[in-house]
Amino acid sequence: MRVAELIERTRNGEELPSDELAELVLAYARGEVPDYQMAAWCMAVYFRGLSGAETFALTDAMIRSGETLDLGAALGRKVVDKHSTGGVGDKTSIAVGPIVAACGVPFGKMSGRGLGHTGGTLDKLESIPGFRVELSTEEFVAQVRETGLAIIGQSADLVPADKKLYALRDVTGTVDSVPLIASSIMSKKLAAGADAVALDVKVGDGAFMKTIDDARVLAETMLELGRHAGKEVVCLLTDMSQPLGRAVGNALEVREAVETIRGEGPPDFTELVLDGCAHLLALSDLGVDADEGRARAERAVADGSALAVYERWIRAQGGDPSLDALAWAPVVVPVPAPRAGIVAGAGALAIGIAALELGAGRRTKADTVDHAVGIVCRAKRGDVIAEGEPLAEVHARSELDAQAAADAILQAYVIGSTAPPSRSIVLEVVS
Ligand code: URA
Repeated sequence: MRVAELIERTRNGEELPSDELAELVLAYARGEVPDYQMAAWCMAVYFRGLSGAETFALTDAMIRSGETLDLGAALGRKVVDKHSTGGVGDKTSIAVGPIVAACGVPFGKMSGRGLGHTGGTLDKLESIPGFRVELSTEEFVAQVRETGLAIIGQSADLVPADKKLYALRDVTGTVDSVPLIASSIMSKKLAAGADAVALDVKVGDGAFMKTIDDARVLAETMLELGRHAGKEVVCLLTDMSQPLGRAVGNALEVREAVETIRGEGPPDFTELVLDGCAHLLALSDLGVDADEGRARAERAVADGSALAVYERWIRAQGGDPSLDALAWAPVVVPVPAPRAGIVAGAGALAIGIAALELGAGRRTKADTVDHAVGIVCRAKRGDVIAEGEPLAEVHARSELDAQAAADAILQAYVIGSTAPPSRSIVLEVVS
């Protein structure tokens, strides 16, 4: 195999045969292809795309790069899984997991770290003191069996090709490509042995898919990969034109997820969590439809059983579930509205980048995340705001960082004089 030639062929729009594409990916996973060549190939894919057959070959090779897990067989249950394509303030798994588990459906999930301006569930969970994201496969299976819930980092053995590619794409401008996202997500879901998957495809300024049409293409690509593997897949296309909920930043988001599990979360995030739970329960072996799933999810929140599962889960993974254990940033400053009006928009991308610059995300592969910092969006689209009232709150390491973030946040907010059209958080369901 001559890697430069494969890069050129993809760059020229030529379809690679499955065996050549697989060899490239497997050689990269073995460390025989350097990052710079793989980054160049990803960039060629970014501009040229991949055919359906190539996307399937890529997904299949990524799965074959490591071991696979049959969680369903290990538990003797149908296993449902969820995954989000990534957004700003997206702490959905941390709230959905305990609710679904409280409804009697085992939830074992492998999550990722932040990618570009979007946060990652693992980084958020690591803001909980003591929480271990790296469990062995045996520990993972045992915890799902005993606690009903485990969320861990992708084990080194499972889809190692994606682990390397994901980190490479994050810092080489090659994240927002339909075949790369679809193969990344579906390889992990299929390798982890999910029987059915609910996918949250984010749409808008803060998502990798900026338009509903692009999101539909990504959803269809992932549905096709699922169909090919004989799995049930449902895609929720959801709004990411403003941050989800109010909190953006790791510890801040864990607090908001717990508030939501207690029934005290912000309306848009609560709606997405309950809707996601409804679809997961409908895909599960409980034999309920989405309406009944929703009713059960609401009950698990109202009667405190979801919160009890949350606490059990965090302890099982070595963490302290008390919210008092989460770090606070030393500097907290409000961002006052420059004038009165109605919030017409709170740009998710700009707010996500401002949070990343505060230290909540990574600029390079080697960066460490500051779990305490971030942004709380006090005002959301459609809110009426008085002059001087806080649009947002910045949680920063220093006054200088806080000022830079506050300036960026002011640019991200649009204040108008009329109410913007209302938009529900779940825009469309594709299955
Ligand atoms: N989430 C993933 O797991 N992979 C991507 O490429 C994007 C979002």
